[in-house]
Amino acid sequence: FSKTLKLSNGVEMPIFGLGTWQSSREEVIHAVRTAILDGYRLIDTATCYQNEDAIGEALQQLFKEGVIKREEIFVTTKCWTTHLSPEDQEEGLRESLQRLKLDHVDLYLAHMPGAFNKDMSEQRKDVTVEDVWKGFESLYEKKLTRAIGVSNFSIEQIDRIMKVAKVPIHNSQVELHLYFQQKPLVEACKKHGISVTAYSPIGSPGRVNFVLPNGYKPEWPPAPSPLEDQAVVKLAEKYSRTPAQILLRHLMQHGIAVIPKSTNDKRIKENHGVYDFELSDEDVKKLDSAPQNERMFWQDFLVGHPEDPFKNERK
Ligand code: A2P
Repeated sequence: FSKTLKLSNGVEMPIFGLGTWQSSREEVIHAVRTAILDGYRLIDTATCYQNEDAIGEALQQLFKEGVIKREEIFVTTKCWTTHLSPEDQEEGLRESLQRLKLDHVDLYLAHMPGAFNKDMSEQRKDVTVEDVWKGFESLYEKKLTRAIGVSNFSIEQIDRIMKVAKVPIHNSQVELHLYFQQKPLVEACKKHGISVTAYSPIGSPGRVNFVLPNGYKPEWPPAPSPLEDQAVVKLAEKYSRTPAQILLRHLMQHGIAVIPKSTNDKRIKENHGVYDFELSDEDVKKLDSAPQNERMFWQDFLVGHPEDPFKNERK
């Protein structure tokens, strides 16, 4: 079983990594260290997680100690909507690099398809995903990142970009888990040679704790937890694994990269225990046929934006 996916430009991306949404500065310093010492080689962050500087600190310390070299670790970060307009992208990425204390990232993603102005008070309805992509190509050409991609983009938006792209999309990161396997999107990406990364691969049980910097606490529609799925629990017993390991391995056997978030030492190690067992084809199929509920992350702030990726799905 290969621990990496080869992107269409030849860059090797680990198929497993650490997610860091909702990890505070203090937590993430410890989590990155624990994860890398345990063998993790991909760290996924984003400007809007507000922890890039702490991740940079943890990495610098590990480089200094000789635990890993820069080229042995794959760092993904994301351009927030406030810097999505092509004229603002380079500033956004350079600020991320400064916080991460790196001279390039391995993968830079457009975090959302819809651009906003700098204080997010207004949608930039004039900026199309084709415009966004043109800017991303120039970041790639400047070698500020080894690969470029998109996050939370629809199939239709991916198709539009691929029609005009000089540099293809290398990776598409989306919400993807047992109850939302995104089969049409995975299929479309496969056709285009785009690798897929699953965020919330175990169903994001911690999302209910999310509070925005302005104190606003979003209400999350109740959703069943994949960790408690009866088929998953049974397979966990059969393979002597935990439900989280079954869920992650299932996606990885489909060639989908996973980035489970944890700040807990025990769970960081538990989640990485996915290489010494294999689900049978029959058990993979069983999980493939889980009920497909709707997405959990609707990104409501994109409502009304011409590039709202979910406008055809919203009720
Ligand atoms: P914690 O950081 O305390 O471990 P996702 O990556 O799908 O969004 O899920 C992340 C959430 O799941 C976090 O709340 C995290 O909490 C929790 N979590 C991570 N690993 C496990 C696990 N192995 N079992 C149960 N919960 C987990």
